[in-house]
Amino acid sequence: MPRSARPDLTGQVVIVTGANAGIGLETAVGLAAKGATVVMTARTRAKGEAALAEVQRRTGSRAVVLGDLDLSAFASIRAFAAWFLERFDRLDVLVANAGLVLDTRRETAEGFEEMFGVNHLGHFLLTSLLQERLVASAPSRVAVLTSVAHRFAVGGLSRADLQSTRAFNGIAAYAQSKLANALFAAELARRLAGTGVTVNAVHPGAIRSRFGRDGDLGVNAWFLTVFGPIVMRSPKAGARTPLKLASSTATSVAGSTGGYWSHGRRWPASRRARDPEEARWLWAESERLVAAASAAPGPEERR
Ligand SMILES: NC(=O)c1ccc[n+]([C@@H]2O[C@H](COP(=O)([O-])OP(=O)(O)OC[C@H]3O[C@@H](n4cnc5c(N)ncnc54)[C@H](OP(=O)(O)O)[C@@H]3O)[C@@H](O)[C@H]2O)c1
Repeated sequence: MPRSARPDLTGQVVIVTGANAGIGLETAVGLAAKGATVVMTARTRAKGEAALAEVQRRTGSRAVVLGDLDLSAFASIRAFAAWFLERFDRLDVLVANAGLVLDTRRETAEGFEEMFGVNHLGHFLLTSLLQERLVASAPSRVAVLTSVAHRFAVGGLSRADLQSTRAFNGIAAYAQSKLANALFAAELARRLAGTGVTVNAVHPGAIRSRFGRDGDLGVNAWFLTVFGPIVMRSPKAGARTPLKLASSTATSVAGSTGGYWSHGRRWPASRRARDPEEARWLWAESERLVAAASAAPGPEERR
């Protein structure tokens, strides 16, 4: 598309979580190229600074800002939200992109299984802290990165063992966290209906990023190394649908909410991901978990 025909996002403020690598980095590049003010978040400042410089170099934009955000710690999420709300008076787009897959059970600062805690609960808390600003900036958009892997959670959420304390399987816990992403997007869309805020879940495709390759998947990463270069697409290709959801002015996109998107179009999500009772349960449980963890003594006080 010639540059002049691209939607102009000048004046819009967008947040991309996990923007220092992979799909998030390419999403930040795409949004900065369209003129948006892009708040790139990273959990490691040095990685974030390198990514910020790359976005500036590739787009020529100076409207790119780095925010520190570790989704595995509520204190970091609250500090980032406070920093953002103090600094920016609008929020047009939130791309909830950051995520990880692990083959061993680890816990967040608040003691949640890390994939559930980062991929879902961290973004749940972040969105709730930013929701008022999103509504005040309407029409505005939220895009939540899920995965086709949400379909592997065939039995739905493991309500009796959401934190995988009794039995842990990395792929199953990842699938559950991605089902949670899809359910969260659907429920948030229902709750924000009529406010002018649209919410969609997006599967980016099978993408050759660093995902699962920094030792997180252990020996299970072999198939990514062997088949990745053959069957997987580039991070830039992975950013196409998130970018479309974040910026397209076509009615089919700008008017879409509560959808599951992949390869540039809307598809049916799994039966579980479309179950409104499951989504309502997850919402109530997430609120309960956030409230309980927020009331509990922090790591310092526990000592
Ligand atoms: N790649 C695929 O084939 C694929 C397929 C379906 C869905 N997805 C989804 O797409 C999203 C992006 O994945 P990707 O392929 O771009 O992976 P990636 O290259 O590994 O990037 C993931 C990003 O998330 C960040 N992150 C991880 N843990 C975090 C935490 N505790 N707090 C804040 N940020 C954190 C990472 O930061 P660090 O660099 O510091 O680790 C990185 O910036 C994920 O939600 C993933 O589930 C990917």
